[in-house]
Amino acid sequence: YDYDLLVVGSANADLVIGVERRPDAGETVLGSDLVVHPGGKGANQAVAAARLGARTALLARVGDDAHGRLLLDSQREAGVDTVGVLVGGAPTGVALITVDPSGDNSIVVSPGANGRLTPGDVRTAGSLFHAAKVVSTQLEIPLETVVEVARSLAPGSRLVLNPSPPQPLPGEVLAACDPLIVNEHEAKVILGEAARAGEEPEEWARLLLAKGPRSVVVTLGGEGSLVASADGISRIPSVKVRAVDTTGAGDSFTAALAWRLGLGESLADAAAYAARVGAATVTREGAQVSFPTAEEVAAL
Ligand code: RIB
Ligand code: NA
Repeated sequence: YDYDLLVVGSANADLVIGVERRPDAGETVLGSDLVVHPGGKGANQAVAAARLGARTALLARVGDDAHGRLLLDSQREAGVDTVGVLVGGAPTGVALITVDPSGDNSIVVSPGANGRLTPGDVRTAGSLFHAAKVVSTQLEIPLETVVEVARSLAPGSRLVLNPSPPQPLPGEVLAACDPLIVNEHEAKVILGEAARAGEEPEEWARLLLAKGPRSVVVTLGGEGSLVASADGISRIPSVKVRAVDTTGAGDSFTAALAWRLGLGESLADAAAYAARVGAATVTREGAQVSFPTAEEVAAL
């Protein structure tokens, strides 16, 4: 394989403002100076993996504008192969992000060029799929494009999906996931009616597995995560750190897990490593600019 990881997904310019608290409807609050960071769940995953040492490629679409150039620069600086990054068709995606004093964020995304990443673009990039051991994607690109990703996997490669932002998924996509990685909110959306059957994360993991994925990871914030497969369910503890900005933590967790699985680690070991990567990420501001190197993870 030429790549440990191929990421198919979004690239956004993150427009970030720190706030004491978020405004209610009809209300105005004052925040900090604006910071513009490279972000987007796909672009974040690619940078996170490359910074850890994974040979990584990104298939994405950005606009022919300053935000697009910011994103391409960030990928190249991290060592990501950007041969699959298409340019033009719409403005680069933008995420409006507020971060509160506890490090929590809320995000509104304007997909822009991400919405123009088509199934045809995936087919055109077929050679990247044949060169990748693991393929990772999310839901900030059109669902039909994600379906095409699931259909494009080369024999022997595996798909990692973080369905964020969540929506109900076709059985064909769920069946291709190994693992499906969800937080509690995403689990409930994917399960729909079935989520009512239980309030316990273990129960969600079982119900999600029954929908077809070979494996499932349920992330539980400070409670760590659950990994579930035909081998059973086990809990992976979290790594305690002081949170400054959680933006991108889930993306770095997913990227690290995908990479370690490709190296042949068990799901539990890969999730334990990924928890350390996610923890390092929340200790610094921003998404891509906060992702750790393998040395920093080892030192944690
Ligand atoms: O997961 C974090 C990311 O979500 C941000 O970088 C923002 O761009 C949104 O896509
Ligand atoms: Na961060």
